[in-house]
Amino acid sequence: MESHSLMFAVLALSLTPCSVLARKPCNFPAIFNFGDSNSDTGGFSAVFGQAPPPNGMSYFHGPVGRYSDGRLIVDFIAESLGLPYLSAYLNGLGANYSHGANFATAASTIRQSNKTLRLGGVSPISLDVQFNEFYDFHRRSQTVRNRLGGIFKQLLPKKRSFRRALYTFDIGQNDLTSGYFANMSVEQVRGYIPQVLDQLTTIVKSVHGQGGRFFWIHNTGPVGCLPYVLVGMHVSPSDHDQYGCAIPFNDLAQEFNRGLKEAVVELRAALPDAVITYVDIYSLKYALVSQHKKHGFEFPLRTCCGHGGKYNFNLKLGCGGTKRIHGKDVLIGKACKRPGVYVNWDGVHYTQAANKWIFNQIKTGAFSDPPIPLKMACRRA
Ligand SMILES: *[C@@H]1O[C@H](CO)[C@@H](O)[C@H](O)[C@H]1NC(C)=O
Ligand SMILES: *[C@@H]1O[C@H](CO)[C@@H](O)[C@H](O)[C@H]1NC(C)=O
Ligand SMILES: *[C@@H]1O[C@H](CO)[C@@H](O)[C@H](O)[C@H]1NC(C)=O
Repeated sequence: MESHSLMFAVLALSLTPCSVLARKPCNFPAIFNFGDSNSDTGGFSAVFGQAPPPNGMSYFHGPVGRYSDGRLIVDFIAESLGLPYLSAYLNGLGANYSHGANFATAASTIRQSNKTLRLGGVSPISLDVQFNEFYDFHRRSQTVRNRLGGIFKQLLPKKRSFRRALYTFDIGQNDLTSGYFANMSVEQVRGYIPQVLDQLTTIVKSVHGQGGRFFWIHNTGPVGCLPYVLVGMHVSPSDHDQYGCAIPFNDLAQEFNRGLKEAVVELRAALPDAVITYVDIYSLKYALVSQHKKHGFEFPLRTCCGHGGKYNFNLKLGCGGTKRIHGKDVLIGKACKRPGVYVNWDGVHYTQAANKWIFNQIKTGAFSDPPIPLKMACRRA
């Protein structure tokens, strides 16, 4: 018995890619993140106005530029790599960029945004702008460190951190939804997906041109399970799946993800010295809705923070929304008592509990291609 099980263990070991087992974790010295509200830690708030309370209530005890009751997936990534939470590049005051910077802003798209926020409904800080910010940050952080020294050596990354850092991307959702909200048909949105993916490819190559080597790219979630799509898009009853999600919107998100996966394969061929991990966030977010009970959640679609209707969600009066009653601003978009049992926070974003659950699945590599743990994401499979 004994020797058999030992042999089995040896066999199992030899089947695991030894390159992974034998090597040390990457010890990423920094994270540079690009994205939208799914990973915004203050960028949008710094420019367009602070995310209102009760955002941040479960962990930060007040709004901190995140659209959630607490931490985002990118916060859990930073925590688990032993790095501080990322300061938003646009924060300036009080920011500490020694271990990275966050260029993500809410409502950002991959495609160039050619309109102001008010006109287009998406942030003008599209991915190309986020790259320009990164480019400038890279160059100037080094000039400032070298010329001024002192405190700036503590606040800005070392030169070598740029090559050894993890570059994370979570963006694309608004490229799809901005089309829908501009009254385009699913077919029309499908038509521009290749353009969106080309642009992402261009930006990843540009970051590589700046020395980036390790990339961690999230695919896009099931937007058809989000109340702002379910309420905003007049989904016909026959277009709902058995869990209440809107099939056409989820189908298109999956089509985007198939294209993204192909784009990553092409990027690997074009950038042989890069390590690029594709992370399947879609399956996890969908599992949270479809198997919410199994994962400890009571409410798959109903938002924790909001007001009215089947989903506790109102497009015109969202989480933190107030109404003027008898000369006083009264909070109407209130939070639920137990955010920990809700998947959805405000109709668009996930609760901290959901983000934490998703992170716990992705850190092992079980949802990655190649299937390598987060802390090994600088190694080839
Ligand atoms: C913005 O303009 C550029 C250049 O003309 C174009 O490539 C891009 O697709 C436009 N973006 C959108 C969202 O229409
Ligand atoms: C910046 O953050 C790093 C890492 O958390 C810390 O060691 C350093 O003291 C901070 N610097 C300042 C000036 O706050
Ligand atoms: C989309 O269509 C609706 C209903 O026809 C209309 O009220 C709305 O203004 C349109 N939105 C845009 C951005 O064209």
